[in-house]
Amino acid sequence: MSKLERKQDRAPVPSEWEYAPAPEARDLVKLRERYGHFVGGEWLEPRETYMTIDPADEQPLAEIGQATPAEVDLAIGAAREAFENGWSDVSASERAKYLFRIARILQERSREFAVLESLNGGKPIRESRDVDLPLAAAHFFYYAGWADKLEYAFPNRSPRPIGVAGQIIPWNFPLLMLAWKIAPALATGNTVVLKPAETTPLSALLFCDVLRQAELPPGVVNIITGDGHTGAELVKHPGVDKIAFTGSTEVGKAIQRELAGTGKRLTLELGGKAANVIFDDAALDQAVEGIVNGIYFNQGHVCCAGSRLLVQESISDPLIGKLKRRLATLRVGDPLDKNTNVGAINSPQQLDKIKELVASGEEEGAEIYQPPCRLPEKGYWFAPTVFTNVAQSYRIAQEEIFGPVLSVLTFRTPDEAVEKANNTPYGLSAGVWTEKGSRILAMSQRLRAGVIWANTYNRFDPSSPFGGYRESGFGREGGRHGLEPYLEFE
Ligand code: NAI
Ligand code: MG
Repeated sequence: MSKLERKQDRAPVPSEWEYAPAPEARDLVKLRERYGHFVGGEWLEPRETYMTIDPADEQPLAEIGQATPAEVDLAIGAAREAFENGWSDVSASERAKYLFRIARILQERSREFAVLESLNGGKPIRESRDVDLPLAAAHFFYYAGWADKLEYAFPNRSPRPIGVAGQIIPWNFPLLMLAWKIAPALATGNTVVLKPAETTPLSALLFCDVLRQAELPPGVVNIITGDGHTGAELVKHPGVDKIAFTGSTEVGKAIQRELAGTGKRLTLELGGKAANVIFDDAALDQAVEGIVNGIYFNQGHVCCAGSRLLVQESISDPLIGKLKRRLATLRVGDPLDKNTNVGAINSPQQLDKIKELVASGEEEGAEIYQPPCRLPEKGYWFAPTVFTNVAQSYRIAQEEIFGPVLSVLTFRTPDEAVEKANNTPYGLSAGVWTEKGSRILAMSQRLRAGVIWANTYNRFDPSSPFGGYRESGFGREGGRHGLEPYLEFE
């Protein structure tokens, strides 16, 4: 044995590292037993209810209203009344003031909101604390800045609000999606009826408290809860002037069919199956971090997740080796533990969908890898998963899994990378990893996706427009572009 090797043998390497538990304080959140609908600034006692749970342990959290058509009608009436009798006359700088207040209150109460978001949605507290909450507040700050500058944003076009916006959001980023919807709607002078997803209503309901604190006039924002039936009522109600929807492509298509010919405005932010393309000159360790952030962030419940990894063949083996070693360090478990990287799957329905697609990948012949990890017994969990030997025709390469599951494909030339990346009905996002600036520019011209990240992934900023092509939807949220869907022009 060489001298060096013997020396290494004697090095005091600990055999195992254990993390001490680092739980965030759950009692920061005070839940009510039962929540109604927030209509015209008041709580409406719900006619029908259901129970919302903590997906990490299946414990019931609170009873939630399931809004009936009559309740949807009341909410839309309140929004109309607020629009006609006051809000549309409020000066733009006053509107901005309310948005600034909301942003500041969200910052002040961010710890409470972060805990609630993790409790009801299953996402790790590190993410709700460091991503969802700061971005939600930033979104309100950003659109507060635009409220009194609309005629500069759209010179000579006389921008006017549309009226009542019906907004339907999903469960993967409940408060952040609420911010993406409500901030631009209010900045442009509209009023709102928003429906959060049925599995994650609690942060939207706590947000009603923020609206009261900010003294937003009653009826300007109304929150109704319930499942897809409630959503469908909101979409077809004649009192709504615009629908903004984020969710599945299937429901997006149904909404588009429903609204055809009605003259109602529509924006859709739907699913994705993004390619994350790694060229042989990329910094591999950085790329591994980007891949992990691309698909395991928020348990992969991300519409723009980098769910298809396209690796240049010459670096495939070392890259996949590094990726598997990195996966073994991800900590899966209690969302409220500050050391957790991967939390609970949001619902049993979503867990079933992930399991079904993963089983199809194994059946079709892909090779599965999961790092050793012990999943909690109660609640909904799925281990971080990588599939190699994936063919483009496999369902796991075509369909949105919306879970912590990565499908790896390889390519030899940039042309082949582009062809494979664009071989999808979606077109929301993509990633490119290379040291060459010229290649980044060339790829971003050729990839058919609304958002393209270079040497990074899943980075968001309120000033940057976000949205898709083809089956990923249409319309943009964020940036100056995000104002336009809420305005009419002369
Ligand atoms: P979904 O599209 O059914 O739910 C999203 C929102 O739409 C919820 O608030 C829901 O109550 C509402 N909704 C459902 N049916 C409706 C209808 N007919 N009219 C109006 N609103 C309706 O999504 P789901 O069933 O929760 O998830 C299924 C799949 O969709 C996921 O596995 C994932 O692939 C994809 N998805 C994509 C999202 C994205 O951010 N692009 C978000 C959520 C899901
Ligand atoms: Mg659905």
